[in-house]
Amino acid sequence: MSFTCLKVEDRGAVGLVQLHRPEALNALNVTVMEELVTCLEQMDAREEIRVIVLAGDDRAFAAGADIKEMADAGHIEMLLRNNIARWDRVRRIGKPIIAAVSGFALGGGCELAMSCDLIVASETAQFGQPEINLGVIPGAGGTQRMTRAVGKSVAMDMILTGRMMSAHEALERGLVARVASKGTWLDEALHLASEIATKSPLALRVAKEAVLKAFETPLAEGLEYERRSFYMLFGSQDQVEGMKAFVEKRAAKFTGR
Ligand code: HXC
Repeated sequence: MSFTCLKVEDRGAVGLVQLHRPEALNALNVTVMEELVTCLEQMDAREEIRVIVLAGDDRAFAAGADIKEMADAGHIEMLLRNNIARWDRVRRIGKPIIAAVSGFALGGGCELAMSCDLIVASETAQFGQPEINLGVIPGAGGTQRMTRAVGKSVAMDMILTGRMMSAHEALERGLVARVASKGTWLDEALHLASEIATKSPLALRVAKEAVLKAFETPLAEGLEYERRSFYMLFGSQDQVEGMKAFVEKRAAKFTGR
């Protein structure tokens, strides 16, 4: 499938997906979201791709859901359109997804970045949930994921005022994993993705699932899930190779088997 609002390329084992609707600061209309989830699912299915980087451009990761597309919709129409259901498909992607954020990541844009597994931010990045200024609230996970990322008090501050958070504050608060300089943010995200792509694809998938479980289960259940997953990986060739390579003092070559 060719995409009209995405730029997509393989960088070795890393799949790079860039939102490309610059005239609207990559606002997430139905076309962008449908193309995005389709593209992510395609990459998830391709064995040669091990990690995905999702980016925008220098000016914006995404300035939110497309306000013009929903401004005139009523309650029932929004319910029937149920556009946010599409976001569940992002959640089901098994491979690690790194959000590379430069410029605005607002509303749905911030929610999309938080739906990824970790965020690498340019020093220019600005995160925010400004929906309150539009008379609504976040709808694609902002109240939940922001709260889990930065805690109740700061999440309330962001969501009740609609203020923006700088990259450095986001790093300090734990919303982002790394901050890169203005000219290198995408390269740094790709470099990190390439490093992760050398690991066992099976272990990556299981590690991602296990970390995400931490948000959805009580501790005892999460620990049990982790333990079973750990034991399960001893059925893989990658475990044999990883441990053999350690003993032989060489780099492991993982195959995902
Ligand atoms: C539609 C948008 C848009 C958006 C920007 N644009 N954000 N169009 N939906 N979310 C368009 C503008 O209308 C404008 O188009 C062009 O992009 C450039 O934007 P400007 O406003 O001229 O740029 P600037 O002055 O630099 O201001 C940047 C900005 C501002 C601060 C990011 O655009 C802004 O506040 N945008 C809205 C942010 C927001 O409220 N996001 C939350 C949306 S609700 P024209 O044609 O005029 O040049 C949401 C709910 C999620 O996300 C629910 C779950 C999916």
